[in-house]
Amino acid sequence: MAKRKIIIDTDPGQDDAVAILLALASPELEVVGITTVAGNVPLSLTQKNARIVCELAERPDIKVFAGASRPMVRPLVTAEYVHGSTGLNGPDLPDPTMPLQDQHAVDFIIDTVRAGAEDEITLCPLGPLTNIALAMQKAPDIIPRLRQIVLMGGGCFEGGNVTPTAEFNIYVDPHAADVVFRSGVPVVVIPLDVTHQCLTTAKRTAAFRALGTNCGIATAEMMEFFERFDEGKYGTDGGPLHDPNVIAYLLKPELYETREVNIEIETMSDLTLGMTVVDWWGVTDRTKNATYCRNVDDEGFFDLLLERYRALP
Ligand code: RIB
Ligand code: CA
Repeated sequence: MAKRKIIIDTDPGQDDAVAILLALASPELEVVGITTVAGNVPLSLTQKNARIVCELAERPDIKVFAGASRPMVRPLVTAEYVHGSTGLNGPDLPDPTMPLQDQHAVDFIIDTVRAGAEDEITLCPLGPLTNIALAMQKAPDIIPRLRQIVLMGGGCFEGGNVTPTAEFNIYVDPHAADVVFRSGVPVVVIPLDVTHQCLTTAKRTAAFRALGTNCGIATAEMMEFFERFDEGKYGTDGGPLHDPNVIAYLLKPELYETREVNIEIETMSDLTLGMTVVDWWGVTDRTKNATYCRNVDDEGFFDLLLERYRALP
């Protein structure tokens, strides 16, 4: 069966790292490239962290690109308070030796989609949508060529995690999110409503450590660091593991309960900036522009993650 070609756009971030490792461990997927964006930490660190993770997986062949260093309109907001000063705090991992690609991430996205067949490339954004929106604006011809966008971002029933109404990835660059959700590309949304069901409990973290592999142990150490902020905030055993759900959706969509909805992005209000306004009950006649994931089989998600990790070094 032909591998599904994906570009992961990411702001590593420990949860991004787990998503990248899951993708690299899954033979159904071909990671055509990893494009990086400023988000959890500045671009100088996200592009370095993506290469650190590829080398942890012993995949120095993966092409990593640097993209936008700031949102389209807003000033950059980062999240070292969650992810630590490097963005990958927890394990002690060596600096990368694999190269960063010279080409800008936005141009890589454009060139790759143009060179591929129609409906061949799936974009997997795990951070602010700046690179995706810039590519769409620079080359609108790629929009009808894209197969799908499966992104982590937004929320509805769980509210926000960076403001009462906004999730971080959308909040950092609401204007980019507005471009993406208005583009007409089929978008699958993995929101906080789903990721808050995927907690890195002590038992689950121990299972990664028990793998005894470099990737398993490093992931346990990332989880133990990453979760501490959210455990304090939510009073839970473990924190939500957000980004790997994007890859898990590609591998086992049956783990997710979805509904076709309209989503619009708040880009004006200071109070609700970055809110994903989800028309869950269809009370408007707005076009249904998104497949919204509402629930997940969290046990199935972690079983998949652990099973695939056995293929990693
Ligand atoms: O709100 C969670 C999202 O913001 C995740 O993608 C996390 O990595 C951060 O980018
Ligand atoms: Ca992320």
